Amino acid sequence: MDESNADSVVRRDRFSGGPARGFLSSLDADERIFEADLAVDRAHVVMLTERGIVDDETAESILDALEVIEAAGHDALPAGEDVHEAIETAVVERVGADGGRMHTARSRNDEVATCIRFRLREDVLDALEATLVLRESLRTVASDHAETLAPGYTHLQPAQPTTVGHWALSYERAVARDTARLLDAYDRVDASPLGAAAFAGTTFDVDRRRTAELLGFSTVLENAMDAASSRDFLLETTGALSTLATTLSGLAEDLLVFANRGFVEIADDYASTSSIMPQKKNPDTLELVRAVAGDAAAGVTGSTTTLKGLPRAYNRDLQRATPHVWRTVDAVTEATGVAAGAVVTAEWNAETLAGAADEGFSTATGVADLLAQRGVPFRTAHEVVAQAATDADAGGTPIREALADAASAHLEDSLDSYVEAEALDAALDAEASVASRDSAGGPAPVAMAEQLEAVGESLAADREAIADRAGLLEAADELRMEVVSTYV
Ligand code: ARG
Repeated sequence: MDESNADSVVRRDRFSGGPARGFLSSLDADERIFEADLAVDRAHVVMLTERGIVDDETAESILDALEVIEAAGHDALPAGEDVHEAIETAVVERVGADGGRMHTARSRNDEVATCIRFRLREDVLDALEATLVLRESLRTVASDHAETLAPGYTHLQPAQPTTVGHWALSYERAVARDTARLLDAYDRVDASPLGAAAFAGTTFDVDRRRTAELLGFSTVLENAMDAASSRDFLLETTGALSTLATTLSGLAEDLLVFANRGFVEIADDYASTSSIMPQKKNPDTLELVRAVAGDAAAGVTGSTTTLKGLPRAYNRDLQRATPHVWRTVDAVTEATGVAAGAVVTAEWNAETLAGAADEGFSTATGVADLLAQRGVPFRTAHEVVAQAATDADAGGTPIREALADAASAHLEDSLDSYVEAEALDAALDAEASVASRDSAGGPAPVAMAEQLEAVGESLAADREAIADRAGLLEAADELRMEVVSTYV
C-alpha cells in the first residue's frame, strides 16, 4: 500500500514538475472549490466506508485530517497540480499511505465536475436572491409611482404617455423571466457526477445515490461518460446570467437617459464625481451595470469556445472553461444588487415627468383611437391625426385647429360631428390618455393594480422555490456533518 502510493506521487512529479508546472496548475483558481472538495471528499469516504471498501479506522483518520486541512485553509495546502491533488497529498502527509484510500473508486474527473456543480449551486442561489431583491425594488417603485405620469418612448422618440410604475413593472417582468431561467439552470447544475470515476465507472461497488444524498444533489447523472465530460451546465448558467445582464443593461440605460433629462435623480450613493469638474455628479454605477453585459458575454463566448468540439471524455481544456462561470456569476450578481439599490433609492421628479409626458404630441394614438371608435376606419383616422401633427409641427397651428382642418380634408363630415369637445380634450390629456389604456397589461390604474397583484404572487412563488432549494442544501450539509461526526 505504502509503496503504490509513494509511486503515484513520484509519477506525478515526473510528469508535471517541469517548466509547464504553473501552466498546468489550477490550484489558485481552485480556491473557489476548496470547501466543495472537502465536502466531496467527506461524502465519498463515508460512502466507501458504508460499502465496506474502506474500514472505519481509516475513515476516521482521513475525516480527521480533512478537518485539520479545512481549518488551515486553502493557502496552507501543499503544492499540487490542483486542489484535489493538494488535499489528497495533505491527507497522506497526515494519515500516511492509508490516506490514499480516499481516492479509491473515483478520479479527479468526476471529482472536479462534482465540486464545480456543488459550488455553483450556491453561487446561482446568490444570483437568484439578487434577482428577487431587484424585483422587489422595481415593485416598490411601481407601487409608489403607479400613477406618476411619464413619457414613453419608441426609437427613443416621444411615443405615448405612460407611468413610472408601468415602466418599472416592465423590467420586473423581464427580470422574473431571468429568475425562471436561472432556476432552470440551477436544476440542471444540481445533479451528481460522483462515482463516474474517470468516465467508465468503477470496479468497486459504489453507491452513487448515497454520495448524491450526502452532497444534497437532487439526482445522479446516470451515464458515467456524460457525467465526467459534460459542461453544458456551464453554458446554460452563463447563458442565463448573460440574459439577465442584458436586461440589466437596458434598465441602466433607461435610467441614464432619464437622469440626463432630469426625470430621475440617482442617489449620491450610486453616483460618482469628476476629478477635474467640481460640479459633476455622474451616474457611474449604472454605466458599470450596463457594461457588465460585456463581462457576461465574455463568459458565454469563453466557455462556449473552450467547450466546442471537445471529444469525449475528459480533456484538460475543461479546466479553463470553469473560471468563466465564476467570473460571470460574480459580476452579474454584483451588478444585479447595485441595480436594485440604484432603482430603489432614485428620486423621481413628477413635475418634469408630467411636462415631458405629452411632449411631441404623444397623445396622438389616443386621438386616432377615438376617431376609430366613432366609426372612422383606423387607417383613415391615422392619416387625419398624422396630417394634423405635421401641420401643428410645421406651422405652429394649435393642435385642435389642425385636427379640425385635417378632418375636413379627409372625412365626409366635420370633426365635431364625430367627437364631442370633451372627449377630444380627454384624448389630448396625458393623464386621461393613460387612464383610458386599461387593457390587460396597460398603464391605466386598474390595469396596474391587477399587474401589481400578479407580480406579488409571482415574487412569493419564486421566493419559495429559491428557499426550497437553499433548504435542501442546508439539510444536506447538516446530514453530512452529522454522519461524519459518527466517525471522528
Ligand atoms: N484541475 C482539473 C480540472 O479542473 C481537475 C481534473 C484533472 N483531471 C485530469 N485527468 N488531469 O479539470
